[in-house]
Amino acid sequence: MDSNEVISADDSHLVPVYHKFQVVLSRGSGSLVWDQNGREYIDCMAGYGVALVGHSNPHVRKAINQQLEKITTCHSSFYNEARSEAVLALDRISPPNLRSYFLCNSGAESIEAALKLARRATGRKKLIAMTGSYHGKTMGALSTTWNHRYRDPFGPLLPEVEFVPFGNIKILREKVDERTAGVLLEPIQGESGIHPASEEFMVEARKSCDEAGSLLILDEIQTGLGRTGEMWAHQAYGVTPDILCSAKGLAGGLPVGAMITSEKVASSFKTGDHTTTLGGGPVVCAALRATLEFIEKENLVGRAKEMGSIFFDGLETLKAKHATIRDIRGKGLLIGVETRFDIRDILLSCMRRGLLLLYSGRNVLRFLPPLVIEPAQINKAIDILDQAFAEAKGNMRVS
Ligand SMILES: Cc1ncc(COP(=O)(O)O)c(C=O)c1O
Repeated sequence: MDSNEVISADDSHLVPVYHKFQVVLSRGSGSLVWDQNGREYIDCMAGYGVALVGHSNPHVRKAINQQLEKITTCHSSFYNEARSEAVLALDRISPPNLRSYFLCNSGAESIEAALKLARRATGRKKLIAMTGSYHGKTMGALSTTWNHRYRDPFGPLLPEVEFVPFGNIKILREKVDERTAGVLLEPIQGESGIHPASEEFMVEARKSCDEAGSLLILDEIQTGLGRTGEMWAHQAYGVTPDILCSAKGLAGGLPVGAMITSEKVASSFKTGDHTTTLGGGPVVCAALRATLEFIEKENLVGRAKEMGSIFFDGLETLKAKHATIRDIRGKGLLIGVETRFDIRDILLSCMRRGLLLLYSGRNVLRFLPPLVIEPAQINKAIDILDQAFAEAKGNMRVS
């Protein structure tokens, strides 16, 4: 198929719920992707952070291929070696008090499992989420996602979900009470502009949960697995959750989610309470095990910190040069650049020049590159951005 045929088949038959870029990506390696016409792009979008260990990572590919030769599906009602190996790999990187895992197929599914478990473990209904949050678009996850544009058309959503202004300790204290099952938050909010929680707020969230007997649920679907220069972003706060959600790059690009919790909390779930047909399948588990091995072997956590600081330095140079850049935020290789205008033209201009980036709100550029990105690729990305900002100067739509 040529590019036009691919685009036409997709546009004619797939439910039109995605913003589409008119590019057909057909190949990827490390931090680079190529379109059908052989055009190369530095991928700082990485499928919304999924290509964490790089596109088509050879170590992950090998594990997938080997598993394909053995067995491709094995429901969790039977035991399977690939699954056990995946769980033991998870056990090496998880917080020491969280050693029980529920494997599923996406980030939203891991949130669903967490919300149900919080209600089951506490026998309470009320859930607290934050303004600016993003936890996914299935009905439970959507109920805890802040953006009204996503929520309003689909009500009634889950009852007894309340939102606390992100960072507001006073309101958090007022809302977390003996009716609260769980408090759900992202250590760094990824979809609403890259906003890190303050240390005081995280500490207070832990304390309020302890006092009220509620569970602290951290969504590390975007921030986890080394992206921020820590294995888990919450480690920098010295706060440990009761439930931790992971997904995105956990299986090297295959669909996966994991809800991670303590044995004590996990034991509240009874057999049959929460299951999934495909979750924890052997091919995904082989990929998961290999992904975690690669993160450890290549010290990608340290690398995220190192490459992040090269990225931040480059962006600071651009900020000094372009008055249209208002702020640079984030940690490691989760970076947001806030501008004084709608970034659509910048995104498209970067794409034309061979750099893929993401929105995080209308005026924040988001960088979620693979953790294997190289310094030369970062420098090239900064050059491209420099050109795009210079070009955009004349025709800005100020937001
Ligand atoms: C912080 C966070 N939570 C949850 C989700 C939902 O994950 P998924 O799209 O895999 O359902 C995302 C996805 O972008 C996310 O960034």
